[in-house]
Amino acid sequence: MTQLIKVDAVNPDPALIRIAADVILKGGLLAFPTETVYGLGASTYNDDAIRRIYIVKNRPMDNPSIVHISSFNQLHEVAEDVPSDLEERLKVAWPGPLTVILRKSSRISEVASCGLSTVAVRMPAHPIPLALIRESTPISAPSANISGKPSPTRAEHVIRDLWGKIDLIIDGGETFFGVESTIIDYTKKPPILYRPGPFTVEELRRIFGEIKVPEQALGLGQFKEALAPGMKYRHYAPDKPLIVSECSSLDGLVKLTLDLASDEAKKGKQVVVLCSSETCSIYVNAGFRVIEVGSRNNLYTVAKNLFHSLRLIDSMNVDLAVAEGYPEIGIGLAVMNRLRKASGYNIVKCSA
Ligand code: TXA
Ligand code: MG
Repeated sequence: MTQLIKVDAVNPDPALIRIAADVILKGGLLAFPTETVYGLGASTYNDDAIRRIYIVKNRPMDNPSIVHISSFNQLHEVAEDVPSDLEERLKVAWPGPLTVILRKSSRISEVASCGLSTVAVRMPAHPIPLALIRESTPISAPSANISGKPSPTRAEHVIRDLWGKIDLIIDGGETFFGVESTIIDYTKKPPILYRPGPFTVEELRRIFGEIKVPEQALGLGQFKEALAPGMKYRHYAPDKPLIVSECSSLDGLVKLTLDLASDEAKKGKQVVVLCSSETCSIYVNAGFRVIEVGSRNNLYTVAKNLFHSLRLIDSMNVDLAVAEGYPEIGIGLAVMNRLRKASGYNIVKCSA
């Protein structure tokens, strides 16, 4: 039995938070909003509950979850040997959409860490999880979707994937950023970016100094050896085929996208184009169905609607989708990482 409660995201009702905290303390599973995507959480200190997360998500057992905390005391509870200069920098970055990989403490079990000696930690910038963790324990939470599906950015996405399989869903409305947190591995020198997110590389470099950005983090190509466990699995994918078109000039991008869509239409396929508010009318005029993802002048709008748009592809009566690419600036890097992975690296670049 799953219970659904609506909670105000800005000013959560303490009585409702207590109901949710009780679920965590009793070893239950609940889905909650964060500023990035919805998480599926259990107490970090309850191995049985954590095992159930893997079962309901159908998640590989070697892929650890992020430990969500609400205070710097908890940082020292879950991680060890945190360099003091790092803590100072984290006080600038947190709460926020940034996950840091550190050496785990003895409080983190083999189950919670999937046998790794490290732990991924983040303090979310969202009143609901902050209040919930304060009332219970640190919460281990992957995104609240079935493994491989786009991460949920609305309660309706969680309901579709997990209804009946978990104890509670907190509907706190649409999440703010729409893509998952940035992940850096601080056990490496220099620290390595594993996943770009709303906390941009530009910002990271300003606060943390030198950071290595490997090709894998851009979502380019498949690699034999993954840098981190989560990087070896296909992610965010709609069931239907998706082609991503990439070109540095907007004219070239539109032409390439139209060509790709027309080629498929000629084969008798029903195509939907994932476009930007600046370009959608061009595809509509050419007779294509479209999903407007957001504005090229504000890539936050694209990030926010991206996973919902990917889910829409599957609910539409189409055979495949062609998606325009975006500049890899700021949150655009996270958008492109997710789009490329969602397409299974089905990327076409313009010749110019
Ligand atoms: O924004 C987010 O990060 C959301 C919200 C709910 O906080 N969570 C999220 O969790 O996206 P998940 O499990 O979908 O992605 C976490 C990623 C996985 O790819 C996992 O492999 C990686 O973090 N990860 C976790 N612990 C790790 C560790 N010790 N070393 C390397 N990678 C780790
Ligand atoms: Mg996930």
